[in-house]
Amino acid sequence: MDKTKIIEKLNECLRHEWTGVAQYAQAGFVVAGLWREVYADMFFDSAKESFGHAKQVGEKIVALGGIPTVERNAVKQTQDLLELLNFALEFESKAVKMYTEALALAEDDRALTVFLENILEDEQDGVDQLTRILRDPKAVAASIGASKVG
Ligand SMILES: [Fe+2]
Repeated sequence: MDKTKIIEKLNECLRHEWTGVAQYAQAGFVVAGLWREVYADMFFDSAKESFGHAKQVGEKIVALGGIPTVERNAVKQTQDLLELLNFALEFESKAVKMYTEALALAEDDRALTVFLENILEDEQDGVDQLTRILRDPKAVAASIGASKVG
C-alpha cells in the first residue's frame, strides 16, 4: 500500500465531506414550503453524516502520518427542492466513487478496507434513498398497472 497515495485520496474524500457539511446545511436552511417539514431534517441529518465521515477520515489521515485538509469544493446552491435532491444524489454518487477509489488503494490492509467499506455503505445508502425519492411515482404506478394488465 502506497501511504502517500492513500493519504492524498483520503484528503480528496475529506474535501468532499467538508463540501457536504456546507451544501447539506445550506439545503436545510433554504428548503421552503410544505415539504420543509420533511426535507429540512433530512438535509441537516445528511450534513451531520458528512461531518461524522469527515471526523473519521481526518483522524485516519493523521494516524497514517498526513495532515487533514481544511479545504472544500464549490457548493451547489439552489432553492428548488427537486434540484436540491438531485444535487444530493450527485453528491452521494460522487462519494461512492471516491471511497471505491480509496478502497482500491487500501490493497491488502484489512483494517483500512473495513474502515472504508463502512463509510462506503453509508454513501451507497444515501444513493439508494435519494434514487427512491426521485423515482417518478407516476411512472412506477404505470408500470405496475401495465404488468397487472399484461
Ligand atoms: Fe460521507
